[in-house]
Amino acid sequence: MSDRTPDHAIDPQFTQRWSPRAFTGEAIDEPTLLRFLEAARWAPSGFNAQPWRFIYARSGTPAWAPIFGSLSEYNQGWAQRASALVLVISRSVWVPPGKSEAQANSTHAFDAGAAWGHLALQVALDGWHAHGIGGFDREKARAALGIPADYDLHAVIAIGRRGDKSVLPEALQARELPNQRLPLASLAAEGRFSFVD
Ligand SMILES: Cc1cc2nc3c(=O)[nH]c(=O)nc-3n(C[C@H](O)[C@H](O)[C@H](O)COP(=O)(O)O)c2cc1C
Repeated sequence: MSDRTPDHAIDPQFTQRWSPRAFTGEAIDEPTLLRFLEAARWAPSGFNAQPWRFIYARSGTPAWAPIFGSLSEYNQGWAQRASALVLVISRSVWVPPGKSEAQANSTHAFDAGAAWGHLALQVALDGWHAHGIGGFDREKARAALGIPADYDLHAVIAIGRRGDKSVLPEALQARELPNQRLPLASLAAEGRFSFVD
C-alpha cells in the first residue's frame, strides 16, 4: 500500500479505505450486502428525511444486467469483476411533517453522499472494497430500473474483494494503489473564503 499519511492524527479506517479496480469476481451473499446498506441507513440527513434509496444487484443474478449495462464501456471493463453493484439515488422533493404538498429537499444530494460514505467505510472495515462510479448513463438506468423523475441518480458503487491487478489493462495496473489528498491547509480556512483554485 502506498503511504497515506494524514496531516492530523485520525482513526486509520479513513486512510485505509480506498478504491481498487481489480476485483476477484467472487459471489457476495445478500446478508453481507445488506450489512453494508445498513451502515448507509444510519447516515444523518436534513430533517431526518432519509432521501436516499439503493438499488442493488449481485453478480450472476437477473438484477445485474440492467445496472451493469448502464455503465460506460471503460467502467464495465473493470467493474465486470465486482461482486455487487449498488445504485445510489435520492428523492429531490419531500413532504415535511404537517404539510401535504411536496417541496424541494435542498439537502438530498448531500445526504445521499453521506450515506455512500457510511457504506464505503463499513465495506472497508469488513475487508471488502467499494468503488464509486459516476460514469454511467443515468437516463438508461432510470428507464431500465423504473426510477421516477423526482429521484436523482448519483453513482453506482462497485463492491468486491480485491483481486490481482494483472486482471486489469496495463494503464489501470499502474493506478492500482491508494492515492493522495490535497493538504488540509488548502481545504479548510478559518472564518472566510481564502482558497486558491
Ligand atoms: C461519486 C464518485 C464517482 C466516481 N466515478 C468513477 C468512475 O466513473 N470511474 C472510476 O474508475 N472511478 C470513479 N471514482 C473513483 C474516484 O476516482 C476515487 O474515489 C478517487 O480517486 C479517490 O480515491 P480513493 O477512493 O481510492 O480514495 C468515483 C468516485 C466517486 C466518489
